[in-house]
Amino acid sequence: MTAGALAASGRSFLASRDVPEPAASAEFLSAAALGVSRGELMARPDLPVGWVARLRFWRWVWRRSRRFPLGHILGSQPFMGMELEVSSKVLIPRPETEEVVGAALDLLRASSAPGRTARCVDLGTGSGCIALALARHAADARIVGVDASGAALRVARRNARRQGVSGQTRWLRADFSRPLPAWLQGADLVVSNPPYIPSGRIPRLDPEVRREPRAALDGGPDGLAAIRAVVARARELLPPGGRLVLEIDEGLGRACLAFMEAAGFQARRILRDCRGLERVALGRK
Ligand SMILES: C[S@@+](CC[C@H](N)C(=O)[O-])C[C@H]1O[C@@H](n2cnc3c(N)ncnc32)[C@H](O)[C@@H]1O
Repeated sequence: MTAGALAASGRSFLASRDVPEPAASAEFLSAAALGVSRGELMARPDLPVGWVARLRFWRWVWRRSRRFPLGHILGSQPFMGMELEVSSKVLIPRPETEEVVGAALDLLRASSAPGRTARCVDLGTGSGCIALALARHAADARIVGVDASGAALRVARRNARRQGVSGQTRWLRADFSRPLPAWLQGADLVVSNPPYIPSGRIPRLDPEVRREPRAALDGGPDGLAAIRAVVARARELLPPGGRLVLEIDEGLGRACLAFMEAAGFQARRILRDCRGLERVALGRK
């Protein structure tokens, strides 16, 4: 059997089970089963497939047909040029979060000075994706990733080791809905992708998303509980001039700006993504 034929049979099976985007899933899974990139698979559909790869592929396709996300099946997810470990204990990093990192890096670059260390706090770090991307792209930054989930922090710590940024990162298990330890105060930047889905919408999400940790999704009845808490923590952790960068969802911008205004943040604004949707809230204390 060839790689092209394997991917085609996986695609038909997934399509017959109404899995969304069956071709993309079948291509990713066949490429991973063969140990090649998706690009290589497309370029060489005549690659021969041994029985071990075939067995692995069909085990994965079966899981995909039961709506496990690709990230959970493969155990990794690309994010800003890194290949990060993911599991059912962390949110799978999303492409839109790269915009949050981009906005945070712009602010860090604008305020950088030779010999000066930028201190950052990532509230709700999950896989560590934001903290790690900041560390990789801002060599003078030191980042503390905070999460209430010890299992998520173990994933983040392993990701830091693999990315070679353990020296720039620290991990703290803490609940950001309460005041955080005093040693975090004085940060230059607080960044966060908090859970912001209204609780009532969660049962209607795609099955793949519902397999992700509830604590990474659920923003309370109005979707704003964690955003409110993050703004309150940022107010405590940042000195005057410190920056807050927050991922939000369409429709939450106005409320988020109001929280920031009440907490004394200036230069408040919302950045939209390439589809014109509210995506990032920024403020300066
Ligand atoms: C939307 S996920 C973001 C994960 C990662 N930063 C990303 O962008 O992919 C939110 C994270 O916040 C954590 N979290 C939720 N509520 C929390 C709280 N009250 N205190 C600390 N962490 C919390 C969850 O465990 C989860 O890892």
